[in-house]
Amino acid sequence: MNYNKITAPVLDSIKTIVGADNVIVNHDELQKYSHDETEDLVYYPEVVARPQTPEQVSALMMLCNEHLISVTPRGAGTGLSGGALPIEGGLLIAMERFNKVLQIDEQNLQATVEPGVVTEEFMNQAAAKGLLYPVDPASKGSCFIGGNVSHGSGGPRVVKYGTIREYILNLQVVLPSGDIIWTGANTLKYASGYNLTQLMIGSEGTLGIITKIVVKLLPLPTLDALMLASFPTNEAACAAVSAIFRAGIIPSALEFMERRGVEWVKEHDDIAFDLQDGIEAFLLIEVDGTNQDVIFADCEKINGVLEAYFCKDVLFADSSAQKEELWRLRRTMAVSVKSNSVYKEEDTVVPRAELPQLIKGIKEIGGRYGFESVCYGHAGDGNLHVNIIKANMSDYDWNNKLKDGIREVFELTVSLGGTLSGEHGIGLVQKDFMSIKYSEVHFALWRGIKNVFDPKGILNPGKIF
Ligand code: LAC
Ligand code: ZN
Repeated sequence: MNYNKITAPVLDSIKTIVGADNVIVNHDELQKYSHDETEDLVYYPEVVARPQTPEQVSALMMLCNEHLISVTPRGAGTGLSGGALPIEGGLLIAMERFNKVLQIDEQNLQATVEPGVVTEEFMNQAAAKGLLYPVDPASKGSCFIGGNVSHGSGGPRVVKYGTIREYILNLQVVLPSGDIIWTGANTLKYASGYNLTQLMIGSEGTLGIITKIVVKLLPLPTLDALMLASFPTNEAACAAVSAIFRAGIIPSALEFMERRGVEWVKEHDDIAFDLQDGIEAFLLIEVDGTNQDVIFADCEKINGVLEAYFCKDVLFADSSAQKEELWRLRRTMAVSVKSNSVYKEEDTVVPRAELPQLIKGIKEIGGRYGFESVCYGHAGDGNLHVNIIKANMSDYDWNNKLKDGIREVFELTVSLGGTLSGEHGIGLVQKDFMSIKYSEVHFALWRGIKNVFDPKGILNPGKIF
């Protein structure tokens, strides 16, 4: 597709729509919008606009549709698949001024929020009213809820509470045509035809721009217990994961961490944690609820399972400070691992009982291609983040052969019944691998959907497929 550049008259129109103060054209100021958290990718937009109302987004969309200018929506830029990168230049619509929690409806246990609200700020506001919004990506302190919707995000508590898909009731969306619609209804049930709300979730900003979000809330669990279990092998730790569910427990988090990841967090961050010899992997397990006796009984059952899987040691967090420290260990793993080496990050997901096979296979593939890997993630969901580390690989092999190795990782994932991404999305970096899992029939359906929403293809071009 040949998109047009933003001309001086179009720039004037953009300034008229959002106000000159909310338009950025200066190269230095555009830098912030030229990357997300994905490794090494940089694409500058020509212009950034920072609208504040759906009507302004609508006017920008109509303008760009008329002039065939590419439009890339952006949340907080914490994405890990390049979804917010303006690869065709054009206009980048930064949603950062959509930053209000509009309503917390304590009668219906729902809230209406704008997409540029930082996820953790919203969680805290809900918690202050005794309500739980459980979708907590590791980046919750900096990501926007709109980006979470666009990627179908998860996080540690998905294992008990489900992904963001379970919490979005209705969305206000601006379509490439400029039309502003609500995708569904503010109801817990929905059997009224094709579900456009679910279609928008995970569409990575390719179908419309989300301007309001209605979410479901739950009563806040008041108690939790957190334990860190250490294992002699990755496979034993991974095998224990599905056994915990088979024993009748649904933890509120069940995270896996490889030793190397923990070592790197310790180097990067001041975390007091004694790493014993002979330990290869950890499970961080949280149980929550409202009844202390039930939580204790669950923990005991879990302990029994852990023992059967050669667990060496279980550390129970005995204070909220220690819980915070253990969560910090897990949540800072991504940044710590990345700051230690040239890396690539993949986001595999398989049915949970296949995890031991997945991790074993990844190490075997790494051995053949010469890369190291540090794996961690949401084991309870079968979702393993694989950080591929350049280590001793030559530049030539890294640039030319690694892609085949990554392909093998995804082939393995798919052969185990999984798919390419559990929560980070496809964006730019995984789209070449989509054909491992999906056929031409899927691609034709997706192209058809895209075409109905965005016939000129102006919105977030070049992403997903
Ligand atoms: C995490 C991010 C990388 O789980 O998804 O840490
Ligand atoms: Zn994650």
